[in-house]
Amino acid sequence: METLFFDIFERLPRQGPGDPSSTRRAFQALASLPPNPHILDIGCGAGLQTLELAKLTNGTITALDNHPPFLNKLLERAVQAGVSESITCMCDDMLSLDFEDELFDLIWSEGAIYNIGFAKGLADWKKWLQPGGYLAVTEVSWIKENPPQELLNFWQREYPAITGIETNLKTITSTGYKLIEHFILPEYAWWDQFYNPLAQQIQQARQKYDFNAEPNTEAGELLTNLEIEIDMYHKFSNYYGYVFFIMQNTA
Ligand SMILES: C[S@@+](CC[C@H](N)C(=O)[O-])C[C@H]1O[C@@H](n2cnc3c(N)ncnc32)[C@H](O)[C@@H]1O
Repeated sequence: METLFFDIFERLPRQGPGDPSSTRRAFQALASLPPNPHILDIGCGAGLQTLELAKLTNGTITALDNHPPFLNKLLERAVQAGVSESITCMCDDMLSLDFEDELFDLIWSEGAIYNIGFAKGLADWKKWLQPGGYLAVTEVSWIKENPPQELLNFWQREYPAITGIETNLKTITSTGYKLIEHFILPEYAWWDQFYNPLAQQIQQARQKYDFNAEPNTEAGELLTNLEIEIDMYHKFSNYYGYVFFIMQNTA
C-alpha cells in the first residue's frame, strides 16, 4: 500500500502541518544567527519550509529526506523560486546520519522529528550544531489536559510517544538546550496546505479504485485511516496541536 500512500502524499503541497508564517516567526527568533548560516533541514519533504528559509537567509541549506520524489519536487520548486543555488538535496536516512561535529549553525525540522523521537532527535543532533547554534523543530503535542478516550485511543495507535508541551520543554533543558521560544501552530497550518488537499486526494483515490469489486483492500483501509486522522482534528483540535520549539545549543 506504500504505492498509494506515496501517490497521494507526492501530490500534496506539503507532507505535514505547517505554514510559511510560522516558519518565518520561528526563524525571526534566532537573534544571533551568523549572516551566512549553514543550515540542515531534516525530513524536508517537498520543501516548502526549505524554500521559505532560503528566502530568509543568505546561507546554504542541506535539505535531507529519504524519499527521492519529494527531493525532486523541492528542486523543481527551488529552481522556480530562484533559490536553487543555496539548496543542496541529500537523500539519506535520519536514523543513521554522519556529519562532522559542529558543522551547522541551525538545524531545522518541521513535522519530521517524530520519526526518530523528540528526545533522541534533540540528543543525537546536538553534536552537529555549533556552540550557540540553534535547533527549531515542530512536534505534535497535547495542548489541553484530559483528552477524550476516543482521541487517546487514536494517538495510542498513531504515535504513543505524544506528550504535553511541559514535558517537551523539560526534554529541551535536559538534553542541553536553552529554550528560545515555543508557540502552537495556527489551525490553518493543518488545513490549508495539508488536510484540505489530502481530503481532495482521498476523494480522487476513492473514485479511481473500485472498492465495490474489492471492498476490503489495503487501499481502502489506508484511505479510511487517513479520513479518521482528518476527522480527529476536526473534532478535537483544541486538545492537540503542532508546537514549534526553538532552542539554542548551550554547549
Ligand atoms: C510529515 S513529513 C514533513 C515534511 C516537511 N518537513 C513538511 O513540513 O512538509 C515527514 C518527512 O520526513 C521524511 N522521513 C520519514 N522518515 C525519514 C527518515 N528515516 N529519514 C529521512 N527522512 C524521513 C518523510 O519522507 C517526509 O518527507
